[in-house]
Amino acid sequence: MADKYAEETGRRHDLAAALLKALFKLIQAAKIHRRTNSLILEGAGQFRRRAEELARTESTLSIRFRRNRIFVEEDRLSFSRDAARHMGTLYRYFESLGIQEFRFDWGPYLPAETADCDRVMTLVRLIADAEQNAVPVDQVSARCKEAALDWVEIVPRTRSQPVDYTPERKERVRNTYAYALDSVQEVVSKLSGQRRVGINKTIRIAQDMVDLVMSDDPLFMVLSTIRTHDDYTYHHSVNVAILAMCLGKRVNLSKHSLERLGLCGMLHDLGKVEVPLDILNKPGKLTRDEFEIMKRHSLDSARLILKLRAPRDRKAKLLLPPFEHHQKYDLSGYPRSKRKKKMSFFGSILSIVDVYDAITSPRVYRKTVMSPDRALGIMLEGMGSDFEPILLKVFINMLGVYPVGTLLLLDDGDMGLVMEKPSELDEERPWMLQLIPDRKGGFSRGEAMNLSARNPKTGDYRKNIVNSFHPSVFGIQPADYLF
Ligand SMILES: [Fe+2]
Ligand SMILES: [Fe+2]
Repeated sequence: MADKYAEETGRRHDLAAALLKALFKLIQAAKIHRRTNSLILEGAGQFRRRAEELARTESTLSIRFRRNRIFVEEDRLSFSRDAARHMGTLYRYFESLGIQEFRFDWGPYLPAETADCDRVMTLVRLIADAEQNAVPVDQVSARCKEAALDWVEIVPRTRSQPVDYTPERKERVRNTYAYALDSVQEVVSKLSGQRRVGINKTIRIAQDMVDLVMSDDPLFMVLSTIRTHDDYTYHHSVNVAILAMCLGKRVNLSKHSLERLGLCGMLHDLGKVEVPLDILNKPGKLTRDEFEIMKRHSLDSARLILKLRAPRDRKAKLLLPPFEHHQKYDLSGYPRSKRKKKMSFFGSILSIVDVYDAITSPRVYRKTVMSPDRALGIMLEGMGSDFEPILLKVFINMLGVYPVGTLLLLDDGDMGLVMEKPSELDEERPWMLQLIPDRKGGFSRGEAMNLSARNPKTGDYRKNIVNSFHPSVFGIQPADYLF
């Protein structure tokens, strides 16, 4: 029984591969020959016969191209070495057109379709003509529908549009960010004025942030690219909260835990209110004594959290991660761990996102600032020593090779901001919002570009990234353009 099934599946795979080959051959022939040419007629006949045979056992068929492999339904096709070479050419051709999948539904259509080759040739022509189009797959999909080719659906590999958010959603995200900033500022200023401060407002904001992280985290992450010299600590605290919550969501923390993590993020650097400003903003390296003062801020954060007006058990749960945020995975860092106890899970999360936000933030005392992709590269070197390895991997994966907000320079001279990481489809490169320099030394928004798009003739990427920068190098605030 099992043998019979395997035999049947094998036969189906062979037929599907033959169908694809026939289609490819036909497309190539249609570029040179007329419809009445014997090669065309023969090719169309082959395609038709394969389709008929396949339709005898199943009314539908899916052929999918993914990561250099061809799948029939969920099964990967395997070929002999010679055949693999030919199928590789074929794969690259369909990939270059942006086609991810052919879904055939022979159903009731097949008998009529096969009465003559016209309908098959319509599909062939559509594909061959689309090669010239900037986004071939969109043209093919649209024309298939126009031509009422109901028996075939072409699924695009790449999207022709980046994700679009409604103005209302953007507004909500923007407001939540502003409230969070406001609340951190309020807590800090009340604390520095020795006044009592409650955290009910901050808790409410953390709850709103959880809702946004659960639904709109890419949009929220765009806002976490906001960097300013002036209000660095406030922005940094909110950014750390956002990134920590986004990372927490990736490792499936509950909503309740995400809320606590967000609060820890917002309050982690509270202790900096006790550090004199000339040390906090000192250009250049701190002296030994100054660094000792600086190092106190994580313990002070925990101490100040205890002073907040809130139930004791609630506060108790917020102490440890801020206390640990400058510790390292190998227990170096500060404050030194005397008991050689592993860092808490939340402390490990904070330590990763804190370093990332800090090294990608321009500071008054630092001339150069690292592009986000390079920052991740450097952090990767600290995997297993500075940072918890699994969390760091998830974090890097979450941000993508070029994190949102990175400024890219392309080989054709275009430049722009990474607006979205590659989707789960076969996109390998991000979407970029082109920035066009204006006469006043600023920039205006250009078009959204899909950097995964390939030239259908050569199979090469249309545009290549030659360099990446931190947007502040050009005085650019990504959220001004991306939001
Ligand atoms: Fe800190
Ligand atoms: Fe920090």
